[in-house]
Amino acid sequence: MSKKTLIALRTSAVAAAALMTALAVQAGEVEVLHYWTSGGEAKAAKALQATLQGKGHTWKDFAVAGGGGDSATTVLKSRVVSGNAPSAAQIKGPSIQEWAQEGVLADMSDVAAANNWDKLLPPVVANVMKYKGKYVAVPVNVHRVNWLWANPEAFKKAGAKVPTTWDEFFVAADKLKAAGIIPVAHGGQNWQDFTTFESIALGVGGPDFYKKALVQLDQTALKSETMTKVLSTFKRVKTYTDKNAPGRDWNLATAMVIRGEAGMQLMGDWAKGEFIAAGKKPGVDFTCVAAPGTAKDFTFNIDSFALFKIKNEANVKAQKDLAAAIMSPDFQEVFNLNKGSIPVRLGADMSKFDDCAKLSAKDFVETAKANTLVPSIAHGMAVSSAAEGAIKDAVSNFWNSDKMTVADAVNKIAAAAKTK
Ligand code: BGC
Repeated sequence: MSKKTLIALRTSAVAAAALMTALAVQAGEVEVLHYWTSGGEAKAAKALQATLQGKGHTWKDFAVAGGGGDSATTVLKSRVVSGNAPSAAQIKGPSIQEWAQEGVLADMSDVAAANNWDKLLPPVVANVMKYKGKYVAVPVNVHRVNWLWANPEAFKKAGAKVPTTWDEFFVAADKLKAAGIIPVAHGGQNWQDFTTFESIALGVGGPDFYKKALVQLDQTALKSETMTKVLSTFKRVKTYTDKNAPGRDWNLATAMVIRGEAGMQLMGDWAKGEFIAAGKKPGVDFTCVAAPGTAKDFTFNIDSFALFKIKNEANVKAQKDLAAAIMSPDFQEVFNLNKGSIPVRLGADMSKFDDCAKLSAKDFVETAKANTLVPSIAHGMAVSSAAEGAIKDAVSNFWNSDKMTVADAVNKIAAAAKTK
C-alpha cells in the first residue's frame, strides 16, 4: 500500500469516526406526555412517534390515560415540580400561558422562524402558542367539539330523523327509546358532562350568549333566562342516557353508537377517530352533524404540545426536530386522518379527508369570518384553568344531583365563574 493511499484511508477513517460522533450527539430522546390512549388516539400518537423516529431520535412514551387530560395534567405538575419535566407535553389554550409564566417552557423561536410558522398558522392560533412573542408550543390540529354522532341503522329502526334542532332532538330521542335503543350514549365523567353542556349552551343560547357567558364569564349572561333554558335542556338530555353512564369512558360511549346499542353521542371529533379505527365509513355506517342548533357555529379545540426547558444537548436537538416535524404537511395529514381532527396549517390539502373533516374545514373558515367561531370551555380553550375547573365541577354536580334545582345551579355556576 502506498503512503498516499494509507493517508487517504486514515483521513476517511477519521472523517467517518467524526461523522459517527456527530450522529451520536444528534440522536436524542424525546419524552412526550400525552393522553391519547383510545383506539383512534393511539393510532394518531403512533404517527407522531414514527415521525420522530424517522429523524433518528428515540421516543419515550409518557401516556397517562384519562379523557380530557385531567390526570395527565396532575402527573405533569408533579414531574415539573420535582425538576424532571418531559421534553413535550400535551397542553393547550390559556394553560400554555400559565405554564410559560412559571418559566419552565423553552423558546422555539428559531424553529418557528426557520419553518415559517407565522405564515402557516392563523394569527388567533399562533398567539395562543406564543408567550411574550416567542413560540413555546406547537399546534397539531383543530378539533371541532360541537358535533352529534349518530348510527343511521338505529335511526332507521326507530323511524327517527337525525336532529338539527333541540326540539327535533327530543322527538328522535323518544322514538329511539320506544324502539329499545339507548337514545344518548354518555360517559358520566365531569369533562364529558361539560362537553354536553357547552354544545347545549351554544345551540340553545347562540354564539353571542356563549361568548358572554362562557368566554367573558359575564355575570349577567351567566344568571340570565337563557342560562335557565340551557340548564333545563341539559338536565332533560340526561333522562335519555342509560343507568350505566356514570364513570364510563368516552370511547366506550362511542362504541355503543358504533354497535347500534345507542343512537347518538354529543362529542368532539376525536369520536370520529374511533369510528374510523373500527373500520366504519362516514355517511354509510355513521353520521356526523353539527350538534342541534349549532350548524353555523364552531367550538374549536386545538391540541398542542408545549416544549419544556431541558438540558441535554442531543435531547434539545430532538425536541426541536419534533416541533418542526409536527408542523410538516405530511405529519399534519397522517395524524389528523387518524385523530378525527383537521390540520391546523393554513391551506392544507384536504383531498384525502372524509366529508366530516371537509365540512369542519369549511366551517372553520366560514365561522371565523362570521364571528361565530368560539373557543371550547370544556376543552381548555376559553378561560383560566382555575375558572374552568370550578365551572366544570358545578355543571357536573348539577348533572348528577337529584335535588339541585335549575335556579341553584345557575347561582353555583355564576359563583364558580368568579374563581381566579
Ligand atoms: C383532546 C383530544 C382528546 C380528547 C379525549 C380532548 O380534550 O383535545 O385530543 O382526544 O380530549 O381525551
